[in-house]
Amino acid sequence: MSKINIEKLANSGALRTKKYIPGKSKQEVERELGLKDIIKLASNENPHGSSPFAGEALKGLAGKVNIYPDKVSTDLRRKLAELTGCREAEITVGNGADGVIYNLGMAVIDQEDEVIIPEVTFPVYEIITQVMRGRVVYSKVRELRIDLPDILAGITSKTKAIFLCNPNNPTGDTLPPQELTAFFRQVPEEVLIILDEAYIDFTDKSLNPDSIGLFKGGLNNLFIIRTLSKAYGLAGIRVGYGIGPGELVSLVNQVKPPFDVSLIAEVAGLAALADSAFIQATLTHSIREKSYFYQELDKLKLKYVISHTNFILIDTGFDASDIFDRLLSRGVIVRSAKGYNLDTCIRVTLGGHEENVRFFQALGEALKEAAAKGAF
Ligand SMILES: Cc1ncc(COP(=O)(O)O)c(C=O)c1O
Repeated sequence: MSKINIEKLANSGALRTKKYIPGKSKQEVERELGLKDIIKLASNENPHGSSPFAGEALKGLAGKVNIYPDKVSTDLRRKLAELTGCREAEITVGNGADGVIYNLGMAVIDQEDEVIIPEVTFPVYEIITQVMRGRVVYSKVRELRIDLPDILAGITSKTKAIFLCNPNNPTGDTLPPQELTAFFRQVPEEVLIILDEAYIDFTDKSLNPDSIGLFKGGLNNLFIIRTLSKAYGLAGIRVGYGIGPGELVSLVNQVKPPFDVSLIAEVAGLAALADSAFIQATLTHSIREKSYFYQELDKLKLKYVISHTNFILIDTGFDASDIFDRLLSRGVIVRSAKGYNLDTCIRVTLGGHEENVRFFQALGEALKEAAAKGAF
């Protein structure tokens, strides 16, 4: 049989997309480098595991998974409505926040629509825009902060949507709430603001822009995305949600894959949302470990961004791939930020305390080696 002609077969938008490269898994590193006792600080997962409530609830599912889940995840959406004070009709759920981003993208992005995306941010926004054959318009990031005036300056009659990640990944920076609120009010009504708050649970309340309050107060071009993957520790189960105007949510629900939130995801999600003690323990841990990181980074005289998330962007001063490899050879997986044109930076998830101590031991050694070899 002859080879297929992928150029001819493919959606031209799909051909244009960049590959999303996830953090390396422990198994991959075990296989590739033959190492044991690996730690992964690469995907902003919760080092505490997940809520014991979720674990208990999942046990009850044995023997029930032959039945399709509720197509519209009524119980989960009801619980989210109760927690957020929004109407059920304003809430859509998906296969992680990624699933919600894709579902929303399918519902709104048309061929040649302009979509404004900060030049340093979560890569999935660019991928879905390209798949839908929209046009990505990059906005500036200055000193690792999203430049809101530059976004406003980039709006044209063709702009369909703006993606805004706050706090931002990979920087961990959060925008001042007053600036953000003023920005929201300046965006024309017909331009959709897609606000990804995947890390909002880690942000100090005083820095939270109260996006839900603004939405409920009538900001009708705002669509908020959140996830249970991070603070709630359900990354492996895949559940996220979006909050937006009822008509838009209804369209998103119309185009999204049926049953994209599995029975397992709905049951675990519902249980995790009720476990405030788990969230509290996660937050207490992340605050403590962040101070430990800052203290150790200061000792190493490295630059970093103050983080409002569960990860920290560190400027190693050396080529990020080189440091990444040196850490990997010591069994420590982090994320190089080279793909964001931050050539000397790595992004490191806060692990458990012992993992963090091990990371700093490995980082100290890696930096010494790099300095000795004159890397960069
Ligand atoms: C900013 C941001 N949005 C969305 C996601 C996707 O999260 P989920 O696991 O819910 O798909 C991530 C995951 O890392 C993220 O960093």
